[in-house]
Amino acid sequence: MKRLLIFSILLIFKLSPAAGSDKNGKGFIFAGDVKSFSKFDDHLELKLDNALCNVYIAAPNIIRFRYTNQDEFSKAPSYSVLEQSLKTQFQFADSSKFYEIRTKELIVHISKSPCRISIYNLGMDLINEDEKAFGVSFDKTLFPDEQFYGLGEKTGSLNKRGNQYTMWNSDQPGYSPTEDPLYQSITFFIGIREFPGKSNEKTTRPESNKLKQAYGIFFDNTYKSYFNMGASNNRFYWFGAEKGEMDYYFIYGPEIKKVISSYSQLTGRIEMPPMWALGYQQSRWSYFPEPNVRNLAENFRNRNIPIDVIYLDIHYMDEYRVFTWNKERFPEPQKMLNDLSKEGFKIITIVDPGVKADSNYFAAKEGIAGNLFVKYPDGKFYNGEVWPSWSFFPDFTKKETREWWGEKNADLLKDGIAGIWNDMNEPAVWGQAFPDIVQFDFEGFGANHKRIHNVYALEMARATFEGIRKMFPEKRPFILTRAGFSGIQRYAAVWTGDNLANEDHLRMACTMVQGLGISGIPFAGSDVGGFMGIPTAGLYNRWIQLGAFSPFFRGHSAYNTIPHEPWAFGEDVESWARDIIKLRYRLLPFFYNEFYNASQTGLPVSRSMFLNFQNDDECYKWDSQYQFMIGDNLLVAPVLSEKENFKKLYLPEGKWFDWWTNKIYEGNQWIIIEVPQREIPLFIREGGIIPMQQEQNYVGEKKIEEFEVKIFPSGSSVYQLYEDDGITTNYKNGAFSLTKFKVDKNINSVEINVSKEKDGFDLGRKDYLFKVLDSALPERVSVNNNDLKSFKDLKSLNSAAEGFCYLKDEQTLVIKAADKKNLNISVR
Ligand code: GLC
Repeated sequence: MKRLLIFSILLIFKLSPAAGSDKNGKGFIFAGDVKSFSKFDDHLELKLDNALCNVYIAAPNIIRFRYTNQDEFSKAPSYSVLEQSLKTQFQFADSSKFYEIRTKELIVHISKSPCRISIYNLGMDLINEDEKAFGVSFDKTLFPDEQFYGLGEKTGSLNKRGNQYTMWNSDQPGYSPTEDPLYQSITFFIGIREFPGKSNEKTTRPESNKLKQAYGIFFDNTYKSYFNMGASNNRFYWFGAEKGEMDYYFIYGPEIKKVISSYSQLTGRIEMPPMWALGYQQSRWSYFPEPNVRNLAENFRNRNIPIDVIYLDIHYMDEYRVFTWNKERFPEPQKMLNDLSKEGFKIITIVDPGVKADSNYFAAKEGIAGNLFVKYPDGKFYNGEVWPSWSFFPDFTKKETREWWGEKNADLLKDGIAGIWNDMNEPAVWGQAFPDIVQFDFEGFGANHKRIHNVYALEMARATFEGIRKMFPEKRPFILTRAGFSGIQRYAAVWTGDNLANEDHLRMACTMVQGLGISGIPFAGSDVGGFMGIPTAGLYNRWIQLGAFSPFFRGHSAYNTIPHEPWAFGEDVESWARDIIKLRYRLLPFFYNEFYNASQTGLPVSRSMFLNFQNDDECYKWDSQYQFMIGDNLLVAPVLSEKENFKKLYLPEGKWFDWWTNKIYEGNQWIIIEVPQREIPLFIREGGIIPMQQEQNYVGEKKIEEFEVKIFPSGSSVYQLYEDDGITTNYKNGAFSLTKFKVDKNINSVEINVSKEKDGFDLGRKDYLFKVLDSALPERVSVNNNDLKSFKDLKSLNSAAEGFCYLKDEQTLVIKAADKKNLNISVR
């Protein structure tokens, strides 16, 4: 009886009261009292009545709790956590009722009878605890004010309180607004609670003396798992899995940003993507044959709509055999790729995991010979049906398979393919029921499908990433994936799967990308226009505007739908789409810098309002989830209904500059503004510094000699800009530059200081064009103490080497200055 899985029993009981037997007849077994304990330099080991419990002190704000009902802990690796042996110093005390662990940021009490965890900050605010009476590890007290965020790619409100979620990667074409689960399983969430502010602490809203504190929990278990965030009760929330260990990391903030950053320290961060992957990308199921692809490319260039990438969906292959070309449709693929590349296009091909079970097909033969596909317990290869009909499935939990797959994908790059699009990798099969008994190598430990399902895509993306990295160490791999598990951000960008062309999905495109960002996945986007169904021109217009401010920006549409290219919806929409895509390209240095920040901190590119304004209650309101910020200073309030002529949006504290009207608003208020169809509401926060560059049709088309910097001066503000060659991995060896912009506004002056903090890459920049917003007519403008000449309009300024001009109507001062190692600009 003791051998029964105590943790899963509790869960089974909760899911189906009839199932499972147990020793107390209540449907679950408590972990019990502490029987003995040992202390090591980085962890404690406790023996409980019915379980073993190890507590690892990984970092001052990260504690790992691990329980098993087996005789020992599993030695199998974690696919998510990069470094499992993190440790930090801690103090330990053994009092009669509990053990105490004290780090520089946390105090943990482990009560002895029954064994229960309570976690406090140093001020003894109770941040999180096991439900007192139940005494089992994963029933947590639900505090009345507690709110939850994260859990990755989920539908519904960003706030997850009151709902239950399942983690089981699922192919859900045309999912509903309440569908769960979807393609990704991110077993990480953030809890936010409110505490009375201490007198010496400042809140961002002075009228409130409450401070919100955040913690996160990452549950490192790949089996089907459940997260009940207070659905159907108001006493506790719980999480657990069908099998495996109760192995979770508690992460303390109190800043939400710090929780996300620490989570990404555990599970990894994005690497710098190639800059072209931030450009516009056009996809369709499918563009073929070759003349259609060439036509599409030509159309974009002729119509002067910037674009970097074209996707080839399943029809490029020979009867859906991966790593092949259909030679009737694409007789000379290399030539096509080469020609398109000269025009600045990168081509990405879809690569699904299913390998057609055809004994004459090289990939099938190699996989069989190398024993690289998954099998039934009797040793026969498993076959499931997908696009190619019956197919083998590579075992990505086996090193040899990953290497083989990596090479195959890298070969595509040799042919001139720029990136790889992984789809159907949940893994999806017709019938949606990949058999649980199918066996996987699991790095030699052996496991069945139940354990591997959720990490199949993660390991597939890893195989591709590592294969490309190995064959082309100088290249930055670009992979797009539909499915994933915690850690997927290390290898791939994520798109939100088969959405529908309707307003529900437009709204979901806004929230789901934020949800992914909160969950450590900054590089995400939706199929612009909606994958299935036919968008109206108005819907498409609003979607492409949202897309232009999504980290991943791709239009995609299903077979048998009408064309979805930017010109397919009439002249007005074409011109608005062109304008917004151009603006995205103008803003590429700004977006790129946010990707750099994400690679350093794990923070999202598209940030929910409450990340930047943690103590502002308004930022947690339902409506606030339909706006977000790029970085610290640009607020985006997309219009999410084609019928809307006005948008209600919230401006947090400070002043905000309306991008389109130049109007300045006071913050701390909801405003309603008119939203002409050609505009997506954008606001620069006071102190904001936004770098921009010249227009171009694709990344790298022109040498960027003139660099524009929009400044909304207020007090003292600083912005650091990262730049590199945008394409190679040389930045890893120091080939990048960091430029610091410091702006100080005083009563009668503005000082702009530009300095190179790191000069490892020659930017080839000639001039800066500073646009100082909210400016009065200056008397004098000088650069490094030399007075600049005043010009009457922009045109004459443009033709001069240096100078300034004041645009009265826009109250904007434009300063042109040659790039130097140090620039001191003074406006009086
Ligand atoms: C799946 C993908 C979709 C793709 C289609 C055909 O539905 O989610 O993006 O176009 O398969 O490959």
